[in-house]
Amino acid sequence: MAKPRVFVTRLILDQGLRLVQEFCEADVWPEELPPSPEILRERVHGVAGLLCLLTDRIDRDVLESAGETLRVISNHAVGVDNVDIPAATARGIPVGNTPGILTDATADLTFALLMAAARRVVEGVRFVLAGRWKTWSPALLLGADVRGATLGIIGFGRIGRAVAKRATGFDMRVLFTDPGPIEEDGQLPAARVDLDSLLRQSDFVSLHCPLTDATHHLIDQAALEKMKPEAVLVNTSRGGVVDPQALYLALKTGRISAAALDVTDPEPLPMDSPLLGLDNLIIVPHIASASRSTREKMSLMAAENLIAGLKGEHLPHCVNEEVYRSAAGAAAT
Ligand code: DGY
Repeated sequence: MAKPRVFVTRLILDQGLRLVQEFCEADVWPEELPPSPEILRERVHGVAGLLCLLTDRIDRDVLESAGETLRVISNHAVGVDNVDIPAATARGIPVGNTPGILTDATADLTFALLMAAARRVVEGVRFVLAGRWKTWSPALLLGADVRGATLGIIGFGRIGRAVAKRATGFDMRVLFTDPGPIEEDGQLPAARVDLDSLLRQSDFVSLHCPLTDATHHLIDQAALEKMKPEAVLVNTSRGGVVDPQALYLALKTGRISAAALDVTDPEPLPMDSPLLGLDNLIIVPHIASASRSTREKMSLMAAENLIAGLKGEHLPHCVNEEVYRSAAGAAAT
């Protein structure tokens, strides 16, 4: 029997790739940069499955180009803001993602960024490399204490809670805000507050919410103005949650003390972005989930979602469960 045709928008890691190639006739995009929207539309034509990355915009045009044959979309990420979920759902196409497995890696990098920004680690490295380290000095590169400080977490899902867990090891006071119901965890001493109180009281503000219409530019000028002047902002969620222009002004004028970003808007930042000229801003290239074992697991989970969809099985991790309910409803009528 002919294997189902799929388009894989980038080389994924070994185990996942092997699984896809065993089960499918896979067209794997070999380049370092993502396929352009034109190429993406061309390559999805007539495929049964699409395994894509967060850098691929899967919009109505892509779905239309794929046509009736497309049975599953598997996103190699937990965030799915790059996929038009309502459009996929309207076509009855399940969309898979990779939740859970990247929680710890992302929480670890969040804490690494928080510590690095608090204690000016990157500035220190630059200082040494520039040959400016002449002697020990009492006032050299003074930063902020982490132990005992207040951490405000925006978005208290898996990753937000994992960051809170790490913070308790530093005796931090943890505040959080989240629009949804939260799984109770008696072990986590964290207080739910409104966004305003969180911004005003926190020494560190860490973002862990998905990018949606409601969270786009949630951290804008007004939000930054509510933060303490000594506060540090950390973003490992999505770049679009922060207004980059407002952040630039807040950092430039000392309205807040520092920021550390794993994600930016746009991504990557153009090399002439004024953000790149700020000493009190650390930027790393969207690597929060980039531990070797995490990325292996993400590739494997993305492959498993893809194959389940091709077999007509329920995806192990599906973000639009409604497709199954409407399919069952249609079958029953
Ligand atoms: C995700 O999976 O959404 C992350 O941003 C990848 O690091």
